Amino acid sequence: MCMDADAAKIAALRSGQVPFFEPGLTDMVSRGVESGALQFTSDAGAAVAHGHVQFIAVGTPPDENGAADLQHVLSVADSIGSHMEASKVVVVKSTVPVGTCEKVAERLRSALAARGSGHAFEVVSNPEFLKEGAAIADFQKPDRIIVGANGEHAREVMAELYQTFNRNHDRIMYMDVRSAEMTKYAANAMLATKISFINEMANLAERLGADIEAVRRGIGSDPRIGYHFIYPGLGFGGSCFPKDVQALVRTAREVGYEAEMIKAVEAVNDRQKRRMFARIAGHFGGEPNLRGKTFALWGLSFKPNTDDMREAPSRVLLEQLHAAGATVRAFDPVALDETLRLYGERPDLVLCRDKYSVLDGADALVICTEWQQFRAPDFEEMKTRLNSPLIFDGRNLYTPQRLRDDGWTYYSIGRAPAFPRPQAIEQQR
Ligand SMILES: NC(=O)c1ccc[n+]([C@@H]2O[C@H](COP(=O)([O-])OP(=O)(O)OC[C@H]3O[C@@H](n4cnc5c(N)ncnc54)[C@H](O)[C@@H]3O)[C@@H](O)[C@H]2O)c1
Repeated sequence: MCMDADAAKIAALRSGQVPFFEPGLTDMVSRGVESGALQFTSDAGAAVAHGHVQFIAVGTPPDENGAADLQHVLSVADSIGSHMEASKVVVVKSTVPVGTCEKVAERLRSALAARGSGHAFEVVSNPEFLKEGAAIADFQKPDRIIVGANGEHAREVMAELYQTFNRNHDRIMYMDVRSAEMTKYAANAMLATKISFINEMANLAERLGADIEAVRRGIGSDPRIGYHFIYPGLGFGGSCFPKDVQALVRTAREVGYEAEMIKAVEAVNDRQKRRMFARIAGHFGGEPNLRGKTFALWGLSFKPNTDDMREAPSRVLLEQLHAAGATVRAFDPVALDETLRLYGERPDLVLCRDKYSVLDGADALVICTEWQQFRAPDFEEMKTRLNSPLIFDGRNLYTPQRLRDDGWTYYSIGRAPAFPRPQAIEQQR
């Protein structure tokens, strides 16, 4: 039984509509609802009565200082404490700062005390590591299941609960609650660091006349580094990395530690999200010349296979182009409705349902998300639609020399000669 405070969401889910795009999820939810195995409610009492195990999976957005806002997590704790009529295992699945499970326990204790109730509970930290776009596979075949539990009963309950997804080999790692909470932040901070690191290398490669794609393959072949998460691009976005990196910096500060490296990861990312606009403005001879120009955007979601646009780099670019007086024509395979919801109808934003018609009359194409269908497009068709053969590729999808041989002006990330070589290097040659 899934409970959400948003009654409209619950109504939609009951009729089999999933309120966001996630491959395979709509079918799975429909099957669950039809068979009766899956129920949705906005009645907290019913949800608490339903299960011995209560998962808290509500949002933990940043507060005004960048720390994780725990109000939703704690209000669910209040609600469990005020409704429970039997012992419970309360599992915190939301990404929460170290020490939150203890706060949840305190709230449960005081809600129970207020009712004069003596029901027992245990609080478990069980952070979620699934990736949007591959959520079902990641959930069903997890690399690891982190269980932070101090009591034996809670560990046994979690082992039983996960046994279906834990058959091939034991993926459960038991640890103390605080370590489990920290593992999630450490994992996200590490992944975000890899992205900011490769973007920093890409920015250097441009200035040094090197090709970041060659460098990427060169370093990725080292198993200590690996190929994952070292793709240069427009910076990381989404609902997790930006907020979790920020929250970790805040948590560190609260215990008297300045997390210099994590702060740099965030700063490099913020700068990276703005670099594409600078490059476009540079091409056109300065920002004032962008007024009245039209840009076609391919990809709006923060990554492929999702319609999630939270903190998406496309939004930073889109807003900069708008502020400069340009018109944006945009195409995304699944995120157009979300774009409309975020920006509304406006004359300088034209949403197109086709990747070629979006190019009609545009002065350049800008690629923001690496959807599969952008990897091998019909370049001849594209030329007939664009005002001039000009691509700004934020995801390094194409081979620069091939495009240039075909008459395109092609900018990408970290691949010379996007920027003129510094004089010192020219002279050495
Ligand atoms: N999205 C991901 O891929 C992902 C991956 C790993 C971890 N997480 C973590 O999971 C948590 C949730 O993320 P999300 O992306 O699903 O957030 P979300 O904001 O999309 O969804 C949160 C839901 O909680 C509901 N809610 C808020 N307060 C409530 C209450 N008191 N009672 C019942 N429902 C309530 C909201 O209506 C909303 O539907 C976050 O802590 C996030 O960091 C998310």
